[in-house]
Amino acid sequence: MKTKALITLLSDGQVHSGEALAGLLGVSRTAVWKQVRRAMDEGFKIETIRGRGYQLVSRVDLLDPDLILGGLAPELRARLALRVLDEVDSTNAEVLRQISKDGEGLPVSVADCQTAGRGRRGRSWISPRGENLYLSMGLTFHGGFAVLDGLSLVLGVAVANALEQLGASEIGLKWPNDVFLPHGKLGGILVELQGELQEGVVQVVAGIGINVHMSDLEGADQPWSSLATAFPGLEWSRNRIAGAIITAVVDAARLFSDQGFRDFREPWQKRDIFLGKQVEARGGEIKGTGSGIDENGNYLLRTEREVIPVRAGEISLRVTS
Ligand code: BTN
Repeated sequence: MKTKALITLLSDGQVHSGEALAGLLGVSRTAVWKQVRRAMDEGFKIETIRGRGYQLVSRVDLLDPDLILGGLAPELRARLALRVLDEVDSTNAEVLRQISKDGEGLPVSVADCQTAGRGRRGRSWISPRGENLYLSMGLTFHGGFAVLDGLSLVLGVAVANALEQLGASEIGLKWPNDVFLPHGKLGGILVELQGELQEGVVQVVAGIGINVHMSDLEGADQPWSSLATAFPGLEWSRNRIAGAIITAVVDAARLFSDQGFRDFREPWQKRDIFLGKQVEARGGEIKGTGSGIDENGNYLLRTEREVIPVRAGEISLRVTS
């Protein structure tokens, strides 16, 4: 975003004279006026108050690395390799690049917008500028790929916990890890494996997209929601949400590494949006009642004769009634 410095100065919502802005930005008053026009083209609503200056009247929630880091415990802050980007193809791709450069610290990327955001099953993830949270983290696990069973669900629980801590309620999870509100999908999680680096050491990229301010989305293929539309009484800051999610994911990954999936089963199940619903899997081959998950995170469908476990990553489930 070319006008970030200007928007930062105007973000207090006060009237600022062209002269003062020019001084602070180190440019001419004409250049300030041009930047104001450009910011308006980018979608910001700025009023020109005759004889006084400019006032930003639209919402602004700029990403700020200091604010994200400020929301973390000092020990976690110290070991984070945080990249906050104006624009990126995909934050998951960015974390993969961070990992391959073999930098120090826990790689985390957050971007204001993504030009090639990735969703599950090869879909794209629409990532409009400034509206939502696009966050990816690199996580390391020991014990080979087998230890990753259930990780997707663990991440869903971590994200739900973080959002609830910030005041959201009724966060549901759609197996394996879509984040839901009663009115529709609030966010999604894409887990990508980087492969085994040394024997038994696996790197995973956890990409998390949460709808924060978005109030319209062209071409959506399913009902969706956002934090600001569902909870208009709360002040939603992408920096705070990022901080809460980073903390929750790091804590959950540690517990999962130490103790496996066991402690996540109940917190996942209490948010199961399929529970008691008629659900089908494998394109209708199996139909049953949604009945929670087993100790490995497989989804359980109860038919008249048996309970069938559906493996994570294998097939998708959909509600039939
Ligand atoms: C889904 O399809 O539900 C998963 C969507 C995951 C989107 C997030 S946004 C941040 C990260 N970067 C990506 O390219 N995808 C994930």
